[in-house]
Amino acid sequence: MTSDHLLSLIRSRILYFQISKNGSSFNYKSNLIMIIKYFLLLPHLKENLLELYKEEFLEDDMSKTKAAEALLVASDDERDKKIYQAGFIPGWIGEGGLKPEPIHEFNACSWNWDKGKELLEAAARSIDPRVAERRNIRMANTANEKRTSLNTIHTSYQMVAPGEFARAHRHTINAGRLILESSGAFTTLDGEKVYMEPNDIILTPNWVWHGLGNDNEVSGAFWIDFLDDPLVSSLKTIFFEVRDEDYETMETNHNSPYHIKWRDLDKKLGTLAPGVDESYGCRIKLDTPSIPSMDLFMERLDNKMKTRAIKSTANHIFVCVEGSGSTQVEDVSFSWERGDVVAVPSWKSFFHHASSKSSLLEITDQPLMEMLGWYRSSKIISEG
Ligand SMILES: [Fe+2]
Repeated sequence: MTSDHLLSLIRSRILYFQISKNGSSFNYKSNLIMIIKYFLLLPHLKENLLELYKEEFLEDDMSKTKAAEALLVASDDERDKKIYQAGFIPGWIGEGGLKPEPIHEFNACSWNWDKGKELLEAAARSIDPRVAERRNIRMANTANEKRTSLNTIHTSYQMVAPGEFARAHRHTINAGRLILESSGAFTTLDGEKVYMEPNDIILTPNWVWHGLGNDNEVSGAFWIDFLDDPLVSSLKTIFFEVRDEDYETMETNHNSPYHIKWRDLDKKLGTLAPGVDESYGCRIKLDTPSIPSMDLFMERLDNKMKTRAIKSTANHIFVCVEGSGSTQVEDVSFSWERGDVVAVPSWKSFFHHASSKSSLLEITDQPLMEMLGWYRSSKIISEG
């Protein structure tokens, strides 16, 4: 056995010795005995062994002592000050740590369509979409300094004035619109015109060109935009481009895959039996693979129907398409009529109560939560 080999054995024994110091007393003792044995066997390696000991123990202990000295401070304030000065933040100060359940930054809130229309008509007198890009009013959450409706989904009311065209643009944001009033309004979608009727839904997925026009020379067109822009914005993945289009010579597409017609939905809802699950009325999941960050449902509630309360990690926007009623979110009730919008943040229980036969468009980020393994839900039996 060479000296190098023996030194290597001693080094590994010392390592085991260090580990076994925190382990069982048997390992600790046996490793200590082995090291002493090597010392006795190799008196001529004494110098080398002393160097090894210094390297393995003394220098390590000295550096630990040095580090410990640097943390000696006169007070807690001084300790924290030193941590800030070194470019860290003390983990024990302010928000932080894991909570047993999600906490809310956004409030449940609602917006009224009559008021929204009045404000947009006033804005039409002075806001030109050639300057402002789009004439819309944002449904900003009531939580402090929020500009979006919820954490991942945003909604706005928008208007295109009679005879107006808002130029085409495209963006990485997925969006859609539920039409409230239109008689001759259209969206251009990748160079084709798609005319929109009330309660129709138009999708404008990631990077699809879309412009907005209104052939009607008397009446404005109005709708609700829904977008995943809070999500795309927080991920810093927004791209945006504009272009001019000759919309007057464009072909009309009567069967665009991005056009969900109300007349088809209405017919389908009329043939469905109420769901067995009392959490919902008659509910249709819309076929929207082009906007993977959001799922859309159209739900019909019979007169006086009350759904069972549900709570989930998904965010929800509800738009009243027809009828009237209210949505109870925890202890607050939001009444709605056609065109009104209710935002329900994640992990807040809610249920609907229709005061007449009603239809609600539901927009939810549930597919995102499911894809990432974060979807959880519970039915709140006592409130339903
Ligand atoms: Fe857009």
